[in-house]
Amino acid sequence: MNLKIVHIVFPFLWIIGAGVVNCSAQKLSVKGNGLKDIYKSDFLIGTALNSDQFQGKNALADRLIKAQFNSITPENVLKAEIVQPAWGRFDFSLSDRFVDYGVRNKLFIIGHTLIWHSQLPPFVEAITSKDSLRQFMSQHIAKVAGRYTGKIKGWDVVNEALNEDGTYRNSVFLKLLGKDYITDAFKQAAVAAPHTELYYNDYNIEQPRKREGAIAIIKQLQAADARIDAVGIQGHWHVGKVPYRDIEESIVAFAALGVKVMITELDLEVLPRNFSGADVSQRMVNSPEMNPFPKKLPDSLQRKLAIDYEQLFNLFLKHKDKISRVTFWGVADGDSWLNDWPVKGRTNYPLLFDRNYKPKEAFYRLLNIKR
Ligand code: G3I
Repeated sequence: MNLKIVHIVFPFLWIIGAGVVNCSAQKLSVKGNGLKDIYKSDFLIGTALNSDQFQGKNALADRLIKAQFNSITPENVLKAEIVQPAWGRFDFSLSDRFVDYGVRNKLFIIGHTLIWHSQLPPFVEAITSKDSLRQFMSQHIAKVAGRYTGKIKGWDVVNEALNEDGTYRNSVFLKLLGKDYITDAFKQAAVAAPHTELYYNDYNIEQPRKREGAIAIIKQLQAADARIDAVGIQGHWHVGKVPYRDIEESIVAFAALGVKVMITELDLEVLPRNFSGADVSQRMVNSPEMNPFPKKLPDSLQRKLAIDYEQLFNLFLKHKDKISRVTFWGVADGDSWLNDWPVKGRTNYPLLFDRNYKPKEAFYRLLNIKR
């Protein structure tokens, strides 16, 4: 979106946000001006980092991260296939740098994720005995969560354990250990990282049937005296199709169980797709129709994106007493996983900052909601 157009079409924004709208991404790094500052009394504002970003290899991203966000999640480097590529062989070279970055910059560090059916090292997929899988799980949690105790402030203990109809996903964990693997994982995480928040995290759990599944998990944990502090609604939604009512009902329903709610992987897809969610095994073939905006997103769509983000944040603010964090899944459009999924090599525009790390209209709307 050309900022001049924002000025013409949004005189209101222009008047109240003059100082902000006019400034470059660089000026946005001025202390006290960022999203994290605007929403300070409401909830944390997080972002997911790739390895270039937490290693300081991208100066523009680095500046934005420090100015706009007060929480970070590793996009990939704490996943099992990376930290334990072979049985008992741990590789913390990247995750240590991620955690150091967070500690150095005083950010609320999220661990993502301990037990997930995806991005597992091949040796886990090959396990056929209950005892071996149980041993993998307990060692993995003890070693990984234990290493960062006191530094990582919250763990996605179990990720994406549900099917769309709310039943338990038939993962290697469910097949061999039954649904108690979830309770065991939370209990083991509580021992390994005693002062760390523990979360269940999933996509589409705002949708009624899957929401019931998440409620069942929370109740299962509570009935077994396993601590769960919050539930993460991932928030991979689509422009023009954001399920506001389902989201609100879910926030209320989860909070009623005594857990906090987080939006953990927020992005808004703007390109065509015929399904919702974030099941990485679902793929579509590339074609010009599937990649309609390789150079620039039309202003009309940029506007829709901004309006959806604004409406979402108004909803989050309405329920700020129940929400502890809103995390975007990536810093800027060029970093987003949605450029390569469900279609490889698309040009997508799902975040608040463009490929040059410049703020988009959506950013200004979120900045100005509370003014
Ligand atoms: O590490 C290899 C690299 O060696 C290789 O050169 C490159 C070639 O494509 O691939 C690299 O691995 C990729 C990895 O991201 C790191 O960039 C994988 O192919 C790619 O599949 C993987 O995608 C990640 C995806 O999870 C995999 O499940 C995305 O970056 C990441 O954003 C995404 O995040 C998930 C959350 O963890 C859970 N919720 C859904 C969300 C979106 O799928």
